[in-house]
Amino acid sequence: MKDRQILIIGSNGQLGRALQQQYPGAKAIDADKLDITNWVALDNFDWTDIKTIINAAAYTNVDGAETNEGRIAAWKVNAVAPAYLTKIANKHDITLVHISTDYVFDGSNDNHTEDEPYSPLSVYGESKAAGDISVSLASKHYILRTSWVIGDGNNFVRTMLTLAQKGINPSVVDDQIGRLTFTPELVRAIDYLLTNNSAFGIYNVTNDGEPASWANIAREIFKITALGNSVTDVTTEQYYEGKTGIAPRPLNSVMDLDKLHQTGFESHSWYNDLKEYIEKEKIQ
Ligand SMILES: NC(=O)c1ccc[n+]([C@@H]2O[C@H](COP(=O)([O-])OP(=O)(O)OC[C@H]3O[C@@H](n4cnc5c(N)ncnc54)[C@H](OP(=O)(O)O)[C@@H]3O)[C@@H](O)[C@H]2O)c1
Repeated sequence: MKDRQILIIGSNGQLGRALQQQYPGAKAIDADKLDITNWVALDNFDWTDIKTIINAAAYTNVDGAETNEGRIAAWKVNAVAPAYLTKIANKHDITLVHISTDYVFDGSNDNHTEDEPYSPLSVYGESKAAGDISVSLASKHYILRTSWVIGDGNNFVRTMLTLAQKGINPSVVDDQIGRLTFTPELVRAIDYLLTNNSAFGIYNVTNDGEPASWANIAREIFKITALGNSVTDVTTEQYYEGKTGIAPRPLNSVMDLDKLHQTGFESHSWYNDLKEYIEKEKIQ
């Protein structure tokens, strides 16, 4: 498949930017060029030559989605738009690649498999679950379920690096467990599934390696940077005490990677990608 046959939607987001690096010749658009919540705009778009849509667009403000305005925006982008894209993909015989999240689960299982029933806790999780259900009706679809995404944008690692440079010793939650997912890993998995014509369906995709809490990941970041900051463990409840409008979060975000590995894909460890990411950010 040639790059120009790929359409990247949500091209300015963390994943969208990484996808543009992988596929420099792809058509790449964001909301200002094509609003995927607008059916007429989508239906009038020139789909000639497009063989694959990669939908990296989403409303990702988890707490924002709990507000009246945010709830509407989240449902539009995360649920209505994927339904429209499914209709477009089926109409034009296009493969639809869509990104989902561990937030479609309540986190009570300690190893989420692809066939776990939906149990979202938050508006964001509900809207993403609705999107998954629509996209699963596309004849040719890959839904990649991921968690804790780190790329070119606002993310946990950048926040910790900023705190480290300011000499702050943060309190970080120690009861949410998962694995980081660096955007190059997500892009590698997308490219692998497409290139190898893997069976359509849902695939969990995170980096591999020992699951860790946010607090322990913060400790690793400070060790790698050698800035010597310390971390105080707090529970999610303690962290958000006194704050309102906070979305409930799954405590266990660990995704089972067996189905992905059965395709022959070899995952990279989150720790190695974290070291590489920090080196690239040039903070030592
Ligand atoms: N970040 C995480 O930790 C995480 C965890 C699990 C799963 N995911 C999923 O991974 C995917 C990529 O996440 P990300 O971190 O790369 O997100 P991101 O950085 O927030 O980027 C989302 C992109 O979607 C665009 N967008 C929003 N509304 C749109 C619309 N109506 N039409 C077209 N584009 C629109 C945004 O454009 P504007 O900036 O112009 O609004 C933005 O460029 C999403 O599906 C997300 O749900 C993320």
